Amino acid sequence: MLIKDDINHFEKYHLYPTQGLLNDPNGLIYFKGQYHVFFQWNPHACNHKYKEWGHFVSNDLKTWTRLETALKPSLPGMDSAGIYSGTAFVKDDKLYVFYTGNVRDESGRSVASHQMWAVSEDGIHFEKLGELFPHPEGFTKDVRDPKVWQGKNGRYYLMVGARSNANIGDILIYESENFSQWQLHGSLIEGELTDIRGYMIECPDLIEIDGKQILMFSPQGLSADEENHRYQNIHNTGYVVGTFDEETLHFKPETEFKEVDKGFEFYAPQTMHTNEGRKIMWGWAGMMTPEREASIPTIASNNWVHVLTIPRVLHVTPDNILTQTPIPEILHTKSLTNFGAVEVGQYTIDSHDNWTLSFGENMTLVRNKNQLVLSRRQWENGEIEKRQVVGDINHALLIVDTDIIEVFTNNNQSVMTARYF
Ligand code: FRU
Repeated sequence: MLIKDDINHFEKYHLYPTQGLLNDPNGLIYFKGQYHVFFQWNPHACNHKYKEWGHFVSNDLKTWTRLETALKPSLPGMDSAGIYSGTAFVKDDKLYVFYTGNVRDESGRSVASHQMWAVSEDGIHFEKLGELFPHPEGFTKDVRDPKVWQGKNGRYYLMVGARSNANIGDILIYESENFSQWQLHGSLIEGELTDIRGYMIECPDLIEIDGKQILMFSPQGLSADEENHRYQNIHNTGYVVGTFDEETLHFKPETEFKEVDKGFEFYAPQTMHTNEGRKIMWGWAGMMTPEREASIPTIASNNWVHVLTIPRVLHVTPDNILTQTPIPEILHTKSLTNFGAVEVGQYTIDSHDNWTLSFGENMTLVRNKNQLVLSRRQWENGEIEKRQVVGDINHALLIVDTDIIEVFTNNNQSVMTARYF
């Protein structure tokens, strides 16, 4: 069933829910001629107490339609309080999705998580297949966000983000010969990345781009590094380039952890392989404190909150830096030469001079020599927060939507996402 609502009405370029709260992109896949973007959705209220998998589809990555919800909580003690994040995999002409079932107690506290799967013939109607494997020992209830892929050796791999009993973030790796029985091997990153695990790792993703393997994940609880302008958001997403060894099931990082986005609320991204082989990524533009989230004006005016970023094409430079560009399908930019207040639109800037742009009343983007500074007066408490990019900022591409901007610069090695109201 098609839901006849206009998903491109409030935002011009971004996917958003017509009601309730949206968070992570899930199950991004091309299947039987269509692109599927599922998303974490609470259609009943603008809070995180309940989640199902909402569903957008597109033939061309430009025009999207929302279908009926793909997966809802239904299994007592397994996924009754939420269908949490996960990924999709096509096998034998069927679409399999892997997700985390959330369980809450009577007082509403999350008390357990289960790694689950479901299958669909048409990509629209799903049959739940139950739990994949028991909860791993030594880990808290915070184990979630399964990502599944097939190795070069034909075997299947599944990883989940996790929080150990000692409150350290981790990524657990499982292996399967037959796609249904999974063996736990332990930590994918044993002995690695010890300073950027935080207390919990969410939404791990492993993707091969330009012949390199990129491990992307969202650690929670990193301390802000003001001096180096890093990890300044409440939680942050980053990546490392390295090698996944299919024999030892170990990922060896070969670079430092770098943030994917230098703006304010980018989080929990996921990647998709397009039909013709591009690697593209959507993120959630909504990671913020509960106080800030609760005072977003669209909650009172329209009873919905949050958006997905636009899809971004990913590449990796020879020196292992991730680059991101908006997918060309949605682009119709014009050159910006009059600096000042910026309206909804898509712009390119090519200038060696300093300039200042403003978005609404509370946000500015200022180019000052080799620095690009995004300043925002916070809508909930009036405080000013800043983010900055240093580098080659003579060229920039701006996607400016009703309440979100995405700034691509520094040869597409730096992106800043920011909501503004
Ligand atoms: C990330 C996240 C995931 C979880 C989902 C719940 O934003 O916390 O770890 O599966 O959101 O909505």
